[in-house]
Amino acid sequence: MRGIIIYKGKYGATRQYAIWLGNILNIPAILAGIEMNEQLKAADYIIMGTSVYIGKLQLRKWIEKHRELLVSKRLFLFLVAGTPVSEKEKLQEYITANIAADIRTRCNFFFFPGKLEFNKLSLSDKILLRIGSSLAKSRGENIATTDYNDVKRELLFGIVDMLGKLNEVAVK
Ligand SMILES: Cc1cc2nc3c(=O)[nH]c(=O)nc-3n(C[C@H](O)[C@H](O)[C@H](O)COP(=O)(O)O)c2cc1C
Repeated sequence: MRGIIIYKGKYGATRQYAIWLGNILNIPAILAGIEMNEQLKAADYIIMGTSVYIGKLQLRKWIEKHRELLVSKRLFLFLVAGTPVSEKEKLQEYITANIAADIRTRCNFFFFPGKLEFNKLSLSDKILLRIGSSLAKSRGENIATTDYNDVKRELLFGIVDMLGKLNEVAVK
């Protein structure tokens, strides 16, 4: 089966997961927007990778733009976020708020932890993060503003395993 990874992030966490996954699965990992339409059409499955900023998925517009094509494909999406992976409900909310139901219902989701290096953020992202974090606090939620890096290659085993099984079925 032919696969392709389309990703969009801002500071490298999503890109890192996409590149590792591309290497493990031996399929191209391409930044959203520079792929060719033929590549998308030729794919049996599409893995989308995106991070989240103040509740918005980086890949949101791309998904909307390619909706017609996406509904005809086997879909996977990994979401990279600061929200702990254990907070499934919150992470699920990001998906529901950003992705139309026809895409959502045919997509397998995976949640991966991200990273933050505050000093490397643009000024506007520093300000946004501070505002977002204090708004989250008032809702009883937590968006971290201190540095962390939870990006790890072994977290990809679940998605790799699922795709391995998919390929086995396709070969049989
Ligand atoms: C301005 C800003 C806003 C963020 N908003 C959220 C958010 O709403 N929810 C969340 O879980 N994580 C949030 N994060 C954390 C990012 O999703 C996390 O840092 C992720 O690793 C970024 O991945 P990227 O480098 O691929 O873009 C935010 C980070 C920044 C800097």
